[in-house]
Amino acid sequence: MTSPILSWSIVLQLAIVGFALLLGLLALISIFSKSAPLQVNQADDTPPGSLGWPLVGKTLEYLKPHKSNSTGQFLQEHCSRYGRVFKSHLFGNPTIVSCDLELNTFILQNEGKLFASSYPKSVQSILGKLSMLLVSGEQHRKIRSTAVSHIGTSKSRPDFLRYIDKLSSSLMESWKERKRVPFFKEAKEFTLHVMLKNLLDMEPGDPIAPRILQDFLTFMEGFVSLPLYIPGSPYAKAVKARTRISSTLRVIINERKTRKEGYSRGDFLDEFLQKGHLDDEEEVSIVLDLLLAGYETTSGLIALVVYFLAQAPKALQQLKDEHRKLRGNKADGELLDFEDYKQMEFTMTVINEALRCGNLVKFVHRRALKDVKFREYVIPAGWKVLPVISAPHLDPVLHQHPSVFNPWRWEDEATSKKFAPFGGGLRLCPGSDLAKLETAFFLHHFVLTYSWKIKEDECPVSHPYLEFKRGLLLEIEPL
Ligand code: HEM
Repeated sequence: MTSPILSWSIVLQLAIVGFALLLGLLALISIFSKSAPLQVNQADDTPPGSLGWPLVGKTLEYLKPHKSNSTGQFLQEHCSRYGRVFKSHLFGNPTIVSCDLELNTFILQNEGKLFASSYPKSVQSILGKLSMLLVSGEQHRKIRSTAVSHIGTSKSRPDFLRYIDKLSSSLMESWKERKRVPFFKEAKEFTLHVMLKNLLDMEPGDPIAPRILQDFLTFMEGFVSLPLYIPGSPYAKAVKARTRISSTLRVIINERKTRKEGYSRGDFLDEFLQKGHLDDEEEVSIVLDLLLAGYETTSGLIALVVYFLAQAPKALQQLKDEHRKLRGNKADGELLDFEDYKQMEFTMTVINEALRCGNLVKFVHRRALKDVKFREYVIPAGWKVLPVISAPHLDPVLHQHPSVFNPWRWEDEATSKKFAPFGGGLRLCPGSDLAKLETAFFLHHFVLTYSWKIKEDECPVSHPYLEFKRGLLLEIEPL
């Protein structure tokens, strides 16, 4: 017979489990059920599809990880059932999902008129309300133009290019004694150091740099996790990491403002502090935006190129030839400059093809500002709209054998018209050229210094943020 103490403890355990489940359910409800009106147009001229269970909808299915050179099971099934444009219930809202190139372009080009940026609440509380992705109108224009003008000049500034070049070659040097390299992690460190130099004139030896990197890694883990604010959860840790990064940046900015030498370092901080047009909160937010967007995505691009090249010996050979020829025209140890970059034509096709196949950004978040008529459909005002910018990249009607890495497809000029890895319209990524330049300089050193191999089952995964199954562990050998 069960003793009363034992049965009491079982009842207690069941009660605890029940309570935990209830808490979990309440948390899920709070994440997914926002107060968006679920009004379907009377005549229902919305695109085909199903709104699913209104509470959680199909968000978990939509976000299920898949190989990033495929669109994933959810989109494959929905597109074959309903077509490239369909309705669903995602992120707590009735939603139109678009895998259609023409509609995606239309949505992005009509930012502020028919559609507006609309990231989930969890993204807002982690990026901060002044993040460029979230602000709109005049404030967006002011913050964005500060970033665009800085990135525009720095990408061709000789001292900055020399810095990227030297950082790449010292990274190659640091791998000389190693047989294996956890490549994605090393690429993240590399691109964070490029951005720290570019924005804050901070070099790897600076004692603050490793702290910022650690906080960013924690930040990213939570940024992409389930947004449950439970003490100790990745999301809660990320919110804390963001607060720490913000206060570190605040200290750096204040210290710069009181410097006797004035604004003489020529980095981004000097540039906008000199203009004095941003308020305290905007100052921290813009640096945080650029650091985050600048390092996370570019390291993904570098890793994708290295991943695809490992399986494309012909493309790798042609790339090596291009870089050997470039090196041959330079004196021993002479650093790369903007003119060299302009000559890296095949490199650009390799980078574009890695962006097309690898898909760093799967989709962006928008909402319809008014009822919008597109073809025979109506997108109702207030509905969420998700242009899946990766879908046209993998559409066999637009790109022949879309899952094959083929840099030569870029010889056809039409290819670039079916490609939007950097979004479009008013929110077109301001860092696209910088990301390509960093990748090209890194590749120059990498392909001329090492050969590399990757385990067979490695692959880039869309979570929807980019991850590698095994962290892209490379076996390297000096050439
Ligand atoms: C391969 C690398 C990159 C990819 C694929 C990428 C992709 C994108 C995409 C798709 C957007 C549009 C988001 C939207 O419409 O909601 C975007 C916006 C943005 N990106 Fe990038 N990006 C990359 C590199 C960079 C770099 C290097 C920087 C900074 C130095 C940067 C800074 C930004 C910023 C600040 C925005 C917000 C723009 C706005 O809302 O006006 N990105 N990026």
